[in-house]
Amino acid sequence: MSVAAFPRVWLAPMGGEAACAPLVASVCNAGGLGWLGGAYMAPAKLAQTIDAIRASTSQPFGVNLFCPQPWARDAQREAVFAAALAPFHAALGLPPPAVPAQCEEDFEAQLAVLIERRVPWVGFTFGDPGAGRVGALHAAGAQVVGTATNVPEALQLATSGCDVLVAQGAEAGAHRGSFLGPRDAGLVSTLALVPQVVDAVVVPVVAAGGIADARGVAAAQVLGASAAAVGTAFLLADECPISPAYRAALEAGAAHETVLTAAFSGRWARGLGNRFTQATDALVARGDLPDFPIPNAMTRPLRQAAGQTGDAGALSLWAGQALPLARRAPAAHIVRRLAAGWKGD
Ligand SMILES: Cc1cc2nc3c(=O)[nH]c(=O)nc-3n(C[C@H](O)[C@H](O)[C@H](O)COP(=O)(O)O)c2cc1C
Repeated sequence: MSVAAFPRVWLAPMGGEAACAPLVASVCNAGGLGWLGGAYMAPAKLAQTIDAIRASTSQPFGVNLFCPQPWARDAQREAVFAAALAPFHAALGLPPPAVPAQCEEDFEAQLAVLIERRVPWVGFTFGDPGAGRVGALHAAGAQVVGTATNVPEALQLATSGCDVLVAQGAEAGAHRGSFLGPRDAGLVSTLALVPQVVDAVVVPVVAAGGIADARGVAAAQVLGASAAAVGTAFLLADECPISPAYRAALEAGAAHETVLTAAFSGRWARGLGNRFTQATDALVARGDLPDFPIPNAMTRPLRQAAGQTGDAGALSLWAGQALPLARRAPAAHIVRRLAAGWKGD
């Protein structure tokens, strides 16, 4: 693929609260590539959101899903985790924590929606979609993007036929895309990771993690990236529908540090430290959490209730290390501010 074939500024996919058509469409209409984090959407909702994006922009856009990973129930771990959640449930007036009947969306059904809707860009995190699925997406006219946090992951994704790789550095907000090696093998900084991945694969590489202004975009270009994918800075976009408590915590975020925690979902993710991350620190350090996505499903009620009541201490305050550089503005302004860092197009 020609490296000139896509915008230099990407709205990185952000699943959950931030995922919405207006933000994606605004970025596309401002000359960026908008990505929808679709992983937490049921297939019907995904289809509806894709249609809403198409109704608001004629530009190409992307949809990102979580590659499923094997997981197993473990009554002992679930009981320990439920005990850790119980005080939060009591404080929020919720029934006792429990594992719901459905812990994750049906990945193959989500993928079928993207193929049927002929979504122009389809991306994955948490794993390798495999050559078969990549081939099916190519047949439907999609460009396929994989997420790598180290060189072995990049090589595997390239072998499966991904057209573009996102190199996600350790600075990035929310979940690590890692799927090969121990945790620390997937915590390489963007500065160190991007040139290694650029050298290892022939496909274009997009830098992600810690990029929040024009200087970060310029640095990504120097490192050999073909574009910069930005998540955290777009959390403060006017169009981003996060809860007022989350937004207020982000706007005060310069005063707080981000931490890596697995306690909200069972996978490592970066966000602002709060009462919940502190209360679950020891549990996470012991490493005896239930498998992802069980904790994610078990913490959903408390996260939703905390959002409604404005209790930032029990919310997953996903944010990357560049949060202090982020500024509230319409998404189009953020795109233009970032794009000013890219030289020569
Ligand atoms: C709130 C939030 C949700 C995210 N959800 C997803 C997701 O669903 N899929 C994905 O591939 N990456 C997800 N990410 C990671 C971003 O796509 C991107 O890698 C990261 O935001 C880049 O680093 P930055 O936050 O420093 O800009 C998320 C990031 C944030 C901040």
